[in-house]
Amino acid sequence: MSRIVIVSNRTPAKGPAAGGLAVALRKVLDEREGFWFGWSGKLAEEPSREARLEDIEGLKVAQIDLTRADHHAYYAGFSNSILWPSFHLRLDLATIEGHWYEGYRRVNQQFARALLPLLKPDDIIWVHDYHLIPLAAELRALGARNRIGFYLHIPFPTADALYAIPHHEDLMRDLSRYDLVGMQARRDVAAFNEFVDQTAPNVFGSSNKPFDFSRTEIDAFPIGSEPDAFARLAVSPAAIKMVNRMKRALGDQALVLGVDRLDYSKGLPQRVEAYEKLLTNDARFRRNVHLLQVAPPSRDSIKEYQETSDALDAICGRVMGQFAEPDWQPLTYVKRAYGQPSLAGLYRLARVGLVTPLRDGMNLVAHEFIGSQNPEDPGVLVLSRFAGAAEIFSEALLVNPFDTDETAEAIRMALDMPLDERIQRWQALMKAAQRHNVIDWAVSFLDRLAPGTNGASSSTRDILYLASVA
Ligand code: F6P
Repeated sequence: MSRIVIVSNRTPAKGPAAGGLAVALRKVLDEREGFWFGWSGKLAEEPSREARLEDIEGLKVAQIDLTRADHHAYYAGFSNSILWPSFHLRLDLATIEGHWYEGYRRVNQQFARALLPLLKPDDIIWVHDYHLIPLAAELRALGARNRIGFYLHIPFPTADALYAIPHHEDLMRDLSRYDLVGMQARRDVAAFNEFVDQTAPNVFGSSNKPFDFSRTEIDAFPIGSEPDAFARLAVSPAAIKMVNRMKRALGDQALVLGVDRLDYSKGLPQRVEAYEKLLTNDARFRRNVHLLQVAPPSRDSIKEYQETSDALDAICGRVMGQFAEPDWQPLTYVKRAYGQPSLAGLYRLARVGLVTPLRDGMNLVAHEFIGSQNPEDPGVLVLSRFAGAAEIFSEALLVNPFDTDETAEAIRMALDMPLDERIQRWQALMKAAQRHNVIDWAVSFLDRLAPGTNGASSSTRDILYLASVA
């Protein structure tokens, strides 16, 4: 059976805080031979030429250090100040400094040079996310002939936003060096096909296509979580501890919950504004609801992230000033990360889950919220139409997150929704979450990347399920 090599910018962290994706891919590597390759999280005077091999809690990991200058250009620069805002259709928040591309390319070359000596000819390589678009091209330039797949965790942009990215034509050519490119949602595949089929020849002034995708398969592989594992986690002792703590603080108030990285794509100020409108429009809810927004800081060396944090501080302060009383606060806002058991408990306690990004690849919080609900008294999911998750969860209350009146009305509907409707909607959502679980996602991508050769067969799937139940 071929080995699986997972490549991503960050390698999985030690400890129990790992996200669902890391947990699922770890399971693939527990079951199959292989290793995880990525950046060590360390900055060094000189770039590493060779990877350091480490065993992190039973997982084989190969890591390299980057120089401070390369890391800045590659991560904060090209990846997160150009690709991230453009792919999320926020050109107003992009900083177009074309020279960052050199650092981005250099780091991808460094990844390829350090990874190549570790590879066996039949290894299957699975590259993750926008930091590493050029990796297959760099590996192929060094002679690698392996099957290489790429998965984009964020949305694929419209043609206009793609044109704004320096060297976008190189990046598209780089994508064509993969055997399989996976995206989150059908809308992403459609945007990709539209760019490739229609717009590309005009840009380059010739009828010849500048890139050839005839050997690359492109398809949607919507990622999921482990909803049944979340159902168990939500009643674990650690979750119950958090629930009891919150119940003491809430009394009879209904909990409205948001959990997001502090990122401008998550629509946090708009969400708090919608909550403000709910309290303004309907005095019934004052003293009877409480918004808890968990927002761990993210990429905070980047100005646009600091500004988002400031905007959120300002609007939370405004709502507090307007509605708080000496003995009642309308919201709590915590800029800190919590482990999965505590989050699962909060999801289960929440009467309303707010997942209202302005644009999002998938959004796993939506999946985890659904998995954590009490089947006899489930909460209601208010979900942005612009999250990939909206293609899966049609029974959620779907909203346009830019329209804060609509979101306020959806929160009202969720709070007023009768139990039988909540149960009906949740049952449909839970079925959809189970159908789109992360294990099937990983197996189906690997099956497609190396049909017949990788053995990611139903037996692999069964073993992964058993591992997830354990
Ligand atoms: O969802 C996209 C993503 O880049 C993930 O790959 C990553 O885990 C997450 O956002 C957090 O980003 P960062 O690694 O920049 O903190």
